[in-house]
Amino acid sequence: MIVVHSLTRIFPGCARPALDEVSFTVEPGHIFGLLGPNGAGKTTLVRILSTLILPTSGTASVCEYDVVHEDSKVRRAIGLAAGGERSFYFRLTGYQNLEFFGGLLGLGGRKLRNSIKHLLDLVGLTDARDLMFMKYSGGMKRKLSLARSLLGDPVVYLFDEPTSGIDPGSAMRIREIIKELKGRGKTVLLTTHNMGEAEKLSDVVGILKEGKLIAVGTPPNLRGVLRERKMVITFSPRTPSAQSGNRVCDLARRLARLPAVASASAGNPNLVLHLNSPGEITPIWIFTTVTSLLSGVLFPVEMLPRYLQAISFILPTTHALRALRLTLTRGANLAEIVPELTFLVITSCLTIPLGFLAFHLGFDKARKAGSLGEY
Ligand SMILES: Nc1ncnc2c1ncn2[C@@H]1O[C@H](COP(=O)(O)OP(=O)(O)OP(=O)(O)O)[C@@H](O)[C@H]1O
Ligand SMILES: [Mg+2]
Repeated sequence: MIVVHSLTRIFPGCARPALDEVSFTVEPGHIFGLLGPNGAGKTTLVRILSTLILPTSGTASVCEYDVVHEDSKVRRAIGLAAGGERSFYFRLTGYQNLEFFGGLLGLGGRKLRNSIKHLLDLVGLTDARDLMFMKYSGGMKRKLSLARSLLGDPVVYLFDEPTSGIDPGSAMRIREIIKELKGRGKTVLLTTHNMGEAEKLSDVVGILKEGKLIAVGTPPNLRGVLRERKMVITFSPRTPSAQSGNRVCDLARRLARLPAVASASAGNPNLVLHLNSPGEITPIWIFTTVTSLLSGVLFPVEMLPRYLQAISFILPTTHALRALRLTLTRGANLAEIVPELTFLVITSCLTIPLGFLAFHLGFDKARKAGSLGEY
């Protein structure tokens, strides 16, 4: 649906290309998330795909239309939502702007009026429909841009940082709109700085850095790259010497042994640490590891020190495992595992209502704070 091949864009007077031999494909019905730091080339790519600027070399096509030679066909096939607020008429209201751009798409009459009403409602701008565009806040301008991109119900959407500068509740709504587009079989290219957003929404994620596409893959495959943590420690010894350099090397070797450190390399005066993803060690991981150690999954609880055995005793998993072991290894009947079963029933009776209570408290709190379902 979107095919980009060796795309390069060099802006006059710039030391490096804004895009450097970028190639990728977005399959129909897929969401492609493009991540990258400021100046990586994301907006340049969106501007080329939306036919606003020309590439220096390479090719790109949308719905099999070449962005250079079949630009008007490409424009009819896409919905573009970008930051460019200058593309609206400042003295027209939000509603009038959409009416004007709808007219350009050949829409009109009751169908257009209903569609504008629906879209303003969708992006949360119904109350501001009669406000002049120049009086819109930054976030409201972005929302109007999103509404305009949805006007003609195109098949491909290009969204340049659609949730940037948007409040959390509205950002969540925008993510839902994007998911709904995918549900309707639409193809979306989306740029963002938000790794969580790219991971959650995208079928495929691409990472741009200094104009180069350095990685492309599904979010699970790119998790290592997305979550890479790098720490650079700079040493400034009063008198740099071979000895201070050796000390940095020695420190790097020692730090590399820590579980949190993936690699450590020493230069003079920098020490670069690549940290293992903290995302791998989640509270649930810690909880399950500790409970499996304490409840006898790995070895009998009798091997634990006495004070830890006391903790084992209050864990339901210990009793469940004990009942299972007695039944499987000694062929114990129901009467013999009554103490374990009684403990399990009692703890279940206590913990299930507590769990419900905690869930409802958390649910009400999140609902009041408006953060329900946010990520
Ligand atoms: N019109 C222009 N003239 C000259 N250089 C430009 C122009 N537009 C972009 N650039 C340069 O191209 C590079 C890529 O810019 P681009 O706007 O595509 O980055 P980006 O990834 O969208 O960044 P951000 O996350 O800040 O929006 C930057 O180095 C920028 O300075
Ligand atoms: Mg940009």
